[in-house]
Amino acid sequence: MIVVVGSGIAGLSAALKARALGPVALVTKGTLSSSNSWFAQGGIAAALDKSDSPEAHLVDTLTAGGVLTDRSAASALCHDGPARVRELLDLGVPFDRAPGLEAAHSRPRILHAGGDSTGRAIQTALIDAITEADIDVRENTFLSNLCLRDGVVVGVELLNSQGEKQRISADSVILATGGAGQLFEHTTNPAGATGDGVAAAWRAGAVIGDAEFYQFHPTSLAVPDNFLVSEAVRGEGAVLVDESGHRFMHDVHPDAELAPRDVVARGIAAVMDEQGGRPVYLDATRLASPRGSVSSGRGSTSSEFLRARFPRIDEVCRLHGLDWSKEPIPVRPAAHYWMGGVRTDLWGRSSLPGLYVVGEAACTGVHGANRLASNSLLEGLVFAHRTVANIAGRSKQNVAVPGGAGDGGLEQTWPRWNAYRLESGAGAVDRASSHDVSSHGASVLGASVLGATSHDAPGHSATSPDAPGHSASSPAASATVRRSEIQRLMWTAAGLSRRRGQLDVAVKQLEAWHRDDNAPPATGALSVDDQVTTAETRNLSSLAMLVVTAAREREDSIGAHYRADFPPPSSAVASRQHFVKGPTC
Ligand code: SIN
Repeated sequence: MIVVVGSGIAGLSAALKARALGPVALVTKGTLSSSNSWFAQGGIAAALDKSDSPEAHLVDTLTAGGVLTDRSAASALCHDGPARVRELLDLGVPFDRAPGLEAAHSRPRILHAGGDSTGRAIQTALIDAITEADIDVRENTFLSNLCLRDGVVVGVELLNSQGEKQRISADSVILATGGAGQLFEHTTNPAGATGDGVAAAWRAGAVIGDAEFYQFHPTSLAVPDNFLVSEAVRGEGAVLVDESGHRFMHDVHPDAELAPRDVVARGIAAVMDEQGGRPVYLDATRLASPRGSVSSGRGSTSSEFLRARFPRIDEVCRLHGLDWSKEPIPVRPAAHYWMGGVRTDLWGRSSLPGLYVVGEAACTGVHGANRLASNSLLEGLVFAHRTVANIAGRSKQNVAVPGGAGDGGLEQTWPRWNAYRLESGAGAVDRASSHDVSSHGASVLGASVLGATSHDAPGHSATSPDAPGHSASSPAASATVRRSEIQRLMWTAAGLSRRRGQLDVAVKQLEAWHRDDNAPPATGALSVDDQVTTAETRNLSSLAMLVVTAAREREDSIGAHYRADFPPPSSAVASRQHFVKGPTC
């Protein structure tokens, strides 16, 4: 049995391919279509055109990611990419003919489908294939924990929509649970992006890498729920202006709006600071002129081009009373993609035998410090394929979960939330692994480490409902309050610009919250939704600590990690990757 958790492009692709090897269970906490991939607008990058080459794509990927990029991983991505995208064409994904251009790509190689609904078009084709593939699909089922025996991952513990705890024994578990944009106050990610797979792997003792590298997308519509305004809009020629109408990106970088994503995001943040925090504006009105866009808008009338090329963005703008064919729209940066995650090799193998991780939940090093636009859907496809190829070539373990389902065998417990300590230094990092997942050109030194202690920290207080500062009256309401607190803290201290002082404050605050939230998640009395909310918030709490400690440790600025107290140019420290190993429960 192979268990795949997550229904984005990586999870669906892995499940489909794994079906050729035997029985597959596909677990997702929402519906099959409620993934981050579903919302992907920009497209999928692949060197399919005769004028392009995987080598050129590789150069762009390495340039964007900087010295931290794992060259072998990036090479696998760019060279395997075209074959994987052809498989999508075979599945019937209706890609547009002409590839588009996006920031930091040296030539047009971004394939779109359905205008700005590429993710939805790909996911629809994959979901159709999944439903025909005799796969045990379990929707609305939450990953509570990984099951371990003797350090080997042998299954998953789940909570289904009826509130039943389930276990599935597995020869291999593939996590494809995506990122954790919900760590931050502003994110382009959907509500479910709470990093559950990374947190579960962390609790099980897996090595986590590059946690400090969170990419912020420059242009999210500045409305209460945020909404991604694709980089492709700037690729078509839209420009960024401040409140007075000045096109400020020319002052920041020669490539202006098409500069690397982190540069544009920080350029916007700086202007927002000068404007008292108010958003900047994205002016796409020029695209709607009769001259239209360089690629496909020629001759179209004012709003026709935008509606045809970006139907979903157009719809959302109009829902918010904005006519972007006539007026610039307010935008601000938002957390978008986590380059960090569970450290894996190029075959999806984590440091724990039996556990594979693909897509955004994984850290192969393929994106280095800064992911190139439209490489993430490709990553999901390429590494899902490689992971299943690796499993296919491996002898079956035939490991059953001790005790099996329902007989009270292995109990995977939550770590005590007051039981973290911080350590620094090379000796604190444990790269223990059956596979040397850390060896691809990276140093494994110098990280801050979160580790479990065997005793309660001083100052332990009661569980969160009674903790000072909590107005909420139930554990779940309290978890919702806590989630907002984490998001605000992370936005301020570990957002686009970071400083030692703020990171210190964040570490202390997170430690205090860990002490408050010491109790194991309540079950019985809580509804299933509330149990999931509570568990997700605890996952976010753990991951927040990983991000801030890694960000504090990296006294350097590179890619998405910008330390205002250590501004560029980057020093040699940047060439080292950070790894931390989770506590084994
Ligand atoms: C976008 O459409 O701008 C997002 C694409 C990506 O993050 O790769």
